[in-house]
Amino acid sequence: MKKVLIDCDPGIDDALALALAAGSPSLDIVGVTTVGGNVDLPLTTANALALREFLELGDVPVTPGSAGALMRETVRATRVHGTTGLGDVVLPAPVLGPADGHAVDFIVDALKSAPGEITLVAVGPLTNIALAVRREPRVVEWARELVIMGGSYTRGNHNPAAEFNMLADPEAAAIVFGAGWTVRMLGLDVTLTATITSGVLDRMRPLGRLADLLVPAAQFYGVVTAEGGPAIHDACAVAYVLDPALFTCVPAVVNVETAGQFTRGMTVTDFRVDPAEANALVATAMDVKGFWDLVLGAYERLAQR
Ligand code: BDR
Ligand code: CA
Repeated sequence: MKKVLIDCDPGIDDALALALAAGSPSLDIVGVTTVGGNVDLPLTTANALALREFLELGDVPVTPGSAGALMRETVRATRVHGTTGLGDVVLPAPVLGPADGHAVDFIVDALKSAPGEITLVAVGPLTNIALAVRREPRVVEWARELVIMGGSYTRGNHNPAAEFNMLADPEAAAIVFGAGWTVRMLGLDVTLTATITSGVLDRMRPLGRLADLLVPAAQFYGVVTAEGGPAIHDACAVAYVLDPALFTCVPAVVNVETAGQFTRGMTVTDFRVDPAEANALVATAMDVKGFWDLVLGAYERLAQR
């Protein structure tokens, strides 16, 4: 079993990533932490709490963290995820509340208690992770790996230069990339190839009550056709933990632009480096069919529980 701690801002694709984790028996989810991102922190936390119960994650603690960026005005993605963060999906109200304490403390304490065992999966703005690094630099040694959905070496999505999670807190992202570990970067370059086609949607429809989440979430997220549809970015980070062989990754030095007038949040990626100097392993290609087999297999397993 691989232990994972998932830091997220649900978020439609965050929800689909959590569902992938929930349906993967080889993962042991030690905690879910939330960050303000796609929508405000109270909503990302409420969505994570509702998802914990809907996905039957049991007593996995959900711990709220940072409400906003370290130094910037808030940027939200309600245009993409709707005002609640989950499109027009309505989940049953959760019975249980959040854990006491702050996500940053939870992250530090969890990694300290199991050095070398827990993979951090960050699929929202990197505010909590940056604060954990600043509070306790040894988290970099204690984490088994840090896998993020964020950035790109070719393009942005929130604007031409920047991917949303990087733009939402560029200073945090710069701290995280500069912390001394090798960031596994699943950026738009690969995640935009993981799209929900009508063939994928047809395999989601028969999944009972799980389909009540998956299908409207997918349809709200974008137009689904036989050839393509919305990309479930965050699920790629969980898929990487489950099966890194699905991805081609190349060592690189990634610097996050924090000062640019038009390029704030851009992940400036240099592949022309000695691998020993790299601060990131950047995904450059993925096996899309293998990805969907993994994801839909997990969803089918979850639906049969
Ligand atoms: C990322 O931004 C958010 O809107 C998504 O949840 C994902 O984490 C994609 O750029
Ligand atoms: Ca996200």
